[in-house]
Amino acid sequence: MKALVTGGAGFIGSNVVKFLIEKGWEIRVIDNLSTGSKDNLNGLDIDFINGDICNEKTALEVCENIDVVFHLAACVGRQKSIDHPQLDSQINLLGTINILEGMRKKGVKRIIYSSSAAIFGELIETSIDEDHPQNANSPYGVSKLAAEKMILSYSEIYDITAICLRYFNIYGENQRFDLYGNVIPIFAKRIFSKEPVTIYGDGEQTRDFVNVKDVARANYLAAVSNVETQVINLGSGTSITINKLLDIMKGISTVKVLVENQPMRAGDVRDCKANINKAYSLLKFDAQIELNEGLKEYMFWYRENCL
Ligand SMILES: NC(=O)c1ccc[n+]([C@@H]2O[C@H](COP(=O)([O-])OP(=O)(O)OC[C@H]3O[C@@H](n4cnc5c(N)ncnc54)[C@H](O)[C@@H]3O)[C@@H](O)[C@H]2O)c1
Repeated sequence: MKALVTGGAGFIGSNVVKFLIEKGWEIRVIDNLSTGSKDNLNGLDIDFINGDICNEKTALEVCENIDVVFHLAACVGRQKSIDHPQLDSQINLLGTINILEGMRKKGVKRIIYSSSAAIFGELIETSIDEDHPQNANSPYGVSKLAAEKMILSYSEIYDITAICLRYFNIYGENQRFDLYGNVIPIFAKRIFSKEPVTIYGDGEQTRDFVNVKDVARANYLAAVSNVETQVINLGSGTSITINKLLDIMKGISTVKVLVENQPMRAGDVRDCKANINKAYSLLKFDAQIELNEGLKEYMFWYRENCL
């Protein structure tokens, strides 16, 4: 099988590429290296195209001779989208249309899309299934939702099967600290550099963290299954408080950590957990990497690669 992985030099994309290579797939990556890094793909035998999905001609060319597209290239994150709303929609929506047009013209019949729980906006249930109301409340949530709807509409109109995987919080190898980063790399950076760690609110808010290797496997399962067009929530199906997360990371590092408390940020949800029944029933997906183990591996990777 030959796959195109858009955003394959990024955190999740590079893990998807690695998983597919281990399964014997031939891989082409398109990535403009805006946030990704070629280092994430070191040692992997792939066809790497340094290009932009916002370029229609490039998006068409990279779809030549491809069986499945894994579409991950995106402008990622709520705050980044608030700071750069046009860029966010340009990549996440218009870039997605370019890839869909490339698929249509080159006859690619399956797409696995990396969607996001951000499409739900404010969460009104504690265990989030696929029918949770979609009230995206950031430019990022809106563009990811619009791209998901666009992909589903292409699937209605053309001979394209689309599996949209709506990720909750993902962590693991190749996840580096950045300005708009997620809590786990932020904690790792602060802990190892002995800087105070900030907790917003009382720290008792909960999140669902799933390891990126489980997510890579879910992408593979979605590609090889004969499941027809679907939206599927993807997390661990469990949740943990931010205080407990910090405790585990402190324990692993054995560094003495100073905690600073700040007021809860506007737009932050209180509790968040994926209901992964559909992922299990359709893809036989369950999260296999236990958080303690995954965090140990991540902290080790972070120390070796990011300090
Ligand atoms: N990290 C999470 O917890 C999370 C949660 C929900 C959804 N997602 C989704 O998963 C996908 C991957 O996210 P990630 O966390 O790996 O982010 P990332 O920033 O590490 O990966 C995105 C990749 O896309 C590339 N890219 C960006 N714009 C591009 C363009 N115009 N053309 C070509 N390449 C471009 C970047 O260089 C990068 O390599 C995204 O679609 C994101 O919305 C991530």
